[in-house]
Amino acid sequence: LASIRVDIADVQEGSQLTVKWLGKPVFIRHRTDDEIERARSEDISGMPDKLARNDNADPGLDASDENRTLDEEGRWLVMMGVCTHLGCVPLGNGAGEYDGWYCPCHGSHYDASGRIRKGPAPENLPIPVAEFVDETTIKLG
Ligand code: FES
Repeated sequence: LASIRVDIADVQEGSQLTVKWLGKPVFIRHRTDDEIERARSEDISGMPDKLARNDNADPGLDASDENRTLDEEGRWLVMMGVCTHLGCVPLGNGAGEYDGWYCPCHGSHYDASGRIRKGPAPENLPIPVAEFVDETTIKLG
């Protein structure tokens, strides 16, 4: 698996970086306190996909925000920027009815944790293999 290193030093809180990895976009978001709080307080029982979809963790883990973020505090969310419906690239920065991402192709709404909440997409945006190699560098793959 080809891996890349991404410098995140300039990614301000409340913004995100999109990088290409293995030919696909990856969203790296530096979340605000408000986004973290919202993503962590929501009840997953009514969500369409109840699994974390995190390649760094046990496949059976539930979709709690804690199981999807790269760091324990939840500042950093790293996800494939590929809609799980038919593969369009969702819009970010608080888009959609759940203040996360919105896929304009057929109207899928993802929340601040990248979990599908409304629309035809069947699964949460997947979390690729990723880790911090130092404070300002994330390795994908
Ligand atoms: Fe995103 Fe269809 S591809 S909603």
